[in-house]
Amino acid sequence: MKLLFGNLKFSKESVKTKFYLFYLLYFIVSALVVTAVKRQDFKTCEQSSFCKRNRAYADKLTANHSLISPYSVIQDSIIIKDGIISGDLINSENNLIFIFELHLLEIGAARIRINEKNPLKPRYDKAKDWALIQDPSYTLEYTLIPSKPDVTSLSFGKERKQAVSIYHSPFRVEFLVNDVPIITLNDRGFLNIEHLRKQDAPGLVDQSNSENDQVIEDENDLDKGLWKETFNGKEDSKPNGPESIGLDISFPGFSHVYGIPEHASSLSLKETRGGDDSYSDPYRLYNLDVFEYEVDNPMALYGSIPFMMAHRKGASAAVLWLNAAETWIDITKNKEDKHRLSSLLGFGKLTPTSTSTHWISESGVIDVFAFLGPTTSDIFYQYGLLTGFTALPQSFAIAYHQCRWNYLNQEDVAEVDESFDKYDIPYDVIWLDIEHTDGKKYFTWDTVKFPTPEKMQTNIGIKGRKMVTIVDPHIKIDDNYYIYKEAKDLDLFVKEPDGRIYDGWCWPGSSSWVDFTNPSAQEWLIKKFAFDQYKGSTEHLFTWNDMNEPSIFSGPEITMPKDLIHHGGWEHRNLHNLYGIAYHSATSKGLINRSNPPRRPFVLSRAFFAGSQRYGAIWTGDNFAKWDHLAIATPMLLTIGISGLPFSGADVGGFFGNPDTELLVRWYQAGAFQPFFRAHAHIDTKRREPWLFGDPYTGYIRDIIRERYALLPLWYTLFHEASTTGMPIIRPMFTVYPEDEETYAMDDQFFVGNSLLVKPIVNEGQTSTEVYFPGNEIFYDYFTLKKVQGSGKVQIEAPINKIPVFLRGGNIIPKRQRIRRSSAAMRTDPFTLLVALDKFGKATGSLYLDDGETYDYEKGHFIHLQFTFSKRKLISKSLSVLNNDENLYAQSISSVRVEKIIVLGLDLKPKHIFADCIDCSKNSKRELQFGLPTTNLANAVIIKGTDLLITEEWVIEFS
Ligand code: NOJ
Repeated sequence: MKLLFGNLKFSKESVKTKFYLFYLLYFIVSALVVTAVKRQDFKTCEQSSFCKRNRAYADKLTANHSLISPYSVIQDSIIIKDGIISGDLINSENNLIFIFELHLLEIGAARIRINEKNPLKPRYDKAKDWALIQDPSYTLEYTLIPSKPDVTSLSFGKERKQAVSIYHSPFRVEFLVNDVPIITLNDRGFLNIEHLRKQDAPGLVDQSNSENDQVIEDENDLDKGLWKETFNGKEDSKPNGPESIGLDISFPGFSHVYGIPEHASSLSLKETRGGDDSYSDPYRLYNLDVFEYEVDNPMALYGSIPFMMAHRKGASAAVLWLNAAETWIDITKNKEDKHRLSSLLGFGKLTPTSTSTHWISESGVIDVFAFLGPTTSDIFYQYGLLTGFTALPQSFAIAYHQCRWNYLNQEDVAEVDESFDKYDIPYDVIWLDIEHTDGKKYFTWDTVKFPTPEKMQTNIGIKGRKMVTIVDPHIKIDDNYYIYKEAKDLDLFVKEPDGRIYDGWCWPGSSSWVDFTNPSAQEWLIKKFAFDQYKGSTEHLFTWNDMNEPSIFSGPEITMPKDLIHHGGWEHRNLHNLYGIAYHSATSKGLINRSNPPRRPFVLSRAFFAGSQRYGAIWTGDNFAKWDHLAIATPMLLTIGISGLPFSGADVGGFFGNPDTELLVRWYQAGAFQPFFRAHAHIDTKRREPWLFGDPYTGYIRDIIRERYALLPLWYTLFHEASTTGMPIIRPMFTVYPEDEETYAMDDQFFVGNSLLVKPIVNEGQTSTEVYFPGNEIFYDYFTLKKVQGSGKVQIEAPINKIPVFLRGGNIIPKRQRIRRSSAAMRTDPFTLLVALDKFGKATGSLYLDDGETYDYEKGHFIHLQFTFSKRKLISKSLSVLNNDENLYAQSISSVRVEKIIVLGLDLKPKHIFADCIDCSKNSKRELQFGLPTTNLANAVIIKGTDLLITEEWVIEFS
């Protein structure tokens, strides 16, 4: 068949080939030439008509103080029943009626939903089905508070400490904790719901057929783009016309807000309108494959979590804006002029700053959760109860991963695998990128390069190691490709508005995309991971979901056209940010289901949404081997972590470009303290496996990877904590020191759990750095075990072989110091306890352990120990049933010992140390041998070669 292409004629095949070569060339050239992000490929707010309209609406109200929000509650419409307050709103500008519901929730949060009362057709409301684990229950513990006739107020929660006031006219909602307002909705009157309408409805300008039906360029031209919009020559047909929603959410008295990943930006979010260091565009949430992204930028990246947290002394609050369409968020900070607020907040004469945010989404309904804290840990828990806690990963998943695009063939894989052993560097997982497939057809193998994939996996599996292969969502259009054929026959693909299967360009060339929002597509993909379906896969093989924003080289903004049609007839625009989680979810379920009994999955995804934590890990995409990209990884990962998704990492070494040895060493040092620790590199970069640099650099890399392995018991315990409480694994300083304002904007140092303070070195040539030690507490250098002299800001030496890491007094951390080739090989090794006393001579810590693979822990097969040091006694108590026939895991490690205990900071040197078992009938009191190091360690006592079992409760006395 011939196609007309301009005035040239090509066969269809040759057009395809040319496109393919074009894109290949494009990527290769772009990778080689160091260029900035192609900003012109991505919209600004000005170029997104609904964002521009809502910003203009906000400007109008801000500029003219006599204007107020036209939305008010219709008199006597409010009904309060069973924890739900509902009523009708009227927009006095067009007399349209909206229905609102306010749900008081058991989890210490509230939810507001606003929709058109009689929409022309239903508005999209399914983001909740992906983000939430279930519809949250309403609390019946509330009391109506007598108030003025045009205000409805209730207090709620067990002690009635939380309250909400609904102001009727104009409509405004205020949440209070202990009588202090912490979140207000529509305070500035930006509530705006563009109702669904017919294109020829009277009073509405239709510019869709105008010749200038382009991106809006003129400030006054807000009516353009209502019914059709074009960007970079690509048209969005917008058959439903304007349907955006907007609302301002304010945090009175809070000068810091955090969250709304993913952006290459600071932890404390910047202003986007006015202010000293302001961005000019709002933060954007729209999952996109942004080539060579820039740091310090609010541009959208691969994932979106519409969750924002505010924090100040004495209070924390958060919101979840449950919407999966393209979303923009403006942030402004204002000196508060409300006298009432100053006195209520106890700021005295100081004028507090308040943060106002303006949320704008292209479509859907208003569905906002307000989490009322009052602490950050309360919020993490409340958010986890709503969207699910992070899934407890297999233990290999938190060890070190070795990836590159691409390991060439089986011989290459074997050589890399053996080299790790040769150079005595542990690793757990080797990854294969897209080149392992037969022509980028996922679930297949290039049989020349990888003729015996099962054997290859078994060879690494024998050493306790795993393999990950990439499985992307674009499906090569090829009737001989079984995946394509099946999906086509089952009618699972995303469609064009006219019903044809959508055809776009990605790695394999012409491709189609399965609609994973369709339950049948979920079911289908889940089955594709069965061992007999995914030929060449074994139990050692796990999965990498890439390009699932989705990334489409030929699409607008390198993604899917918004007017494509999904299951249920929904346009892509409504659910764009869900595509990634839908794919991640099916993949993860596929890996669970392939084994019987089921095993925990491991799936890395690039795109994400609220709730993705239930399916696996994410990474920050295509970063660059540059110092500023190393630096930005910390705030990015902290932000993602406080937004409910703690299992995240940035490519170690930087994806694009070639890091020099110093940068690579520093990156490994930082990466060893990321929850997900993987080295990865672009296909055009030089090989950079750790042994290629020679000593001393290889040695530095080896040391820090080994340190990660030594600390795996701590990491696993923290993952368990995240999976039950929602606590992030790496934590911003402000969450550990919530009363210390100095920490509120700090994002270049952080905590692993509550015990290790880490300050990555992110500048070339830097050999010392300032570390902030808050709270007049004791800190010990993690590597030398010496006490840090001074508190507050202290200058710390950081030669190239050292990342500044400190152990916070008051903590006990579990380690394993016999480093082997993989984490699996260390499973029955003995433990070391590092006890760092605080100034009161106290410390606590815990250790969670299970088989690291199955779900047996759900049936009680695990060990959870609590360690406490107080009054010169160290006690190990179990938080669960230990020596019980039903705890097979405890039985399986019943001979594992705590072989070494190091206590730092004892005031008086002990003369004797005795150990005894707790609540045991036998007389087992015995004296332990110990040493007092002569070096200047912080009054250290080292007990070696103990016979204390991990499965027994015991006490050690330092007399
Ligand atoms: C883009 C991903 O971000 C990158 O990590 C991967 O190597 C390439 N796609 C090729 O699959």
